[in-house]
Amino acid sequence: MSNAAPGPAMDYEEFRKLGHETIDLITDYLATIRDTPVFQPLTPQQRAGLSQRPLGDLPDSPRDILHEAVSDILPYAMGNGHPRFFGWINSPPAPIGVLADLLAAAQGAACDVGDIAPLWLERTAVAWLSEIVGYDPQTTMGILVSGGSVATLTCLTVARQHCAETDGWDVRRDGLSGDRRMLTYITEQTHSSVRKAVELLGLGSASIRIVPTDDELRMDAAALERMVAQDRAAGARPFCVVATAGTTNTGAVDPLADVARVAHAAGMWLHVDGAYGAVAAVHPELRGTFEGLAQADSITMDPHKWLSVPIECGCALVRDRELMRRTFSLVPPYLRTEEGKGIGGPPSYAEYGIQQTRGFRALKVWMVLRHAGRQGIVDLVTRNVALARLLAGLVDQTPGLRLAAKPQLAVVAFQYVPADGDDTDRVNAVNRALEHALQTDGRTFVTGTVLGDRFVLRASVLHYATSEEDLRELVSTVCRIGAEVEKETLAGYLSQRAHF
Ligand SMILES: Cc1ncc(COP(=O)(O)O)c(C=O)c1O
Repeated sequence: MSNAAPGPAMDYEEFRKLGHETIDLITDYLATIRDTPVFQPLTPQQRAGLSQRPLGDLPDSPRDILHEAVSDILPYAMGNGHPRFFGWINSPPAPIGVLADLLAAAQGAACDVGDIAPLWLERTAVAWLSEIVGYDPQTTMGILVSGGSVATLTCLTVARQHCAETDGWDVRRDGLSGDRRMLTYITEQTHSSVRKAVELLGLGSASIRIVPTDDELRMDAAALERMVAQDRAAGARPFCVVATAGTTNTGAVDPLADVARVAHAAGMWLHVDGAYGAVAAVHPELRGTFEGLAQADSITMDPHKWLSVPIECGCALVRDRELMRRTFSLVPPYLRTEEGKGIGGPPSYAEYGIQQTRGFRALKVWMVLRHAGRQGIVDLVTRNVALARLLAGLVDQTPGLRLAAKPQLAVVAFQYVPADGDDTDRVNAVNRALEHALQTDGRTFVTGTVLGDRFVLRASVLHYATSEEDLRELVSTVCRIGAEVEKETLAGYLSQRAHF
């Protein structure tokens, strides 16, 4: 047997040099990102190079690998690190979070069992997140997961356990045998991850009830109450309401206190999807909007959204710690530890969620939040909300643009209105084409969505470095490219018509 260490081993002096070089390259990347395109499409050759490279038989030079990663991969991201990225709900990574991920990778801890620092730190990270939503950190249980979707799946699994325990059956043993019509109430605006969770839990998407919304796209609590009563009278089991604190489309926050009253009076679980907006509960002017949030039985948070914790990081918060444990706990002999003996520490995080081996997400939450401080979080949210309001004002004042919904939190939904009229199909076609043209243009980045029968553009302001100037550039770019797209789509329409 050779004495040379195999595969992954590296000489530590070489590692040190490469590490310093890496930090320099990362710093250049972050410091100059504003001067690069927000998004740049890959060429067919680049795609092939990235997706089809065979694994070589012999080792490659670490330095070559590093430089190739920086030149051929780093610039071709979604663009959310750029201050003029306004797509979906994706924030930039906080610089200290980038360092945190590096440290966590170096430690390589499996964060499930043991009297280890990462697990104690996760308690603090989760306690800080709990405080933001008004939960009592002493009694709440929370677990960091990959993102909002898994947080919601985790919470709704606890909700299903709660329903089974309340009704006297054992979902872990018996599954969903029998005719259990367990209904979940959402709105048209609820994120698709909720439907996915309901499907994964075996409840079936046919068990979802869509509650009407008011003119600000918020759940109508009175309609919810009526629907629950009717469904119960028809023999079904209304089991869970999922309200949203900050919808993806427009940032709408459902009337949480009213929804909580209806849900709890009917013996239902209330889950709040706060993946996007729950953090905005710290905004001094928005406290009223979030009233009732802490009455939820569980909450999805997503530190990799507004808090700028590097992707991936979501958080499932559940008020009843023991119920959460009963939902997931399964400890075989080879995983059993005893507190105070050997490595034994607090109960394993695997007893509160889906994963066994877990990465050290808590470190980046802890470092990013500690660096920002409570005031830093308030300032970030306040600034982004103010910028979104400014953008809404700019849209409102600009001929050829119109707001598509009342702006809430930091999302602005709007449309480009072609000069030749207001036909819905034509406006939709122009805005669809405009979304794509804006994305490939590289100066700015927005995404689209559908509100009723309208296709609209939406800009979400989440970056800590976005400026007023960036918003003015967004508006002028939309107008300029909108006019080009308008001409092209009109030419397309006319030639299509000539064709037939
Ligand atoms: C309101 C809302 N809920 C849930 C999610 C899903 O979160 P994730 O993408 O982290 O799984 C999103 C994502 O944008 C969202 O906006």
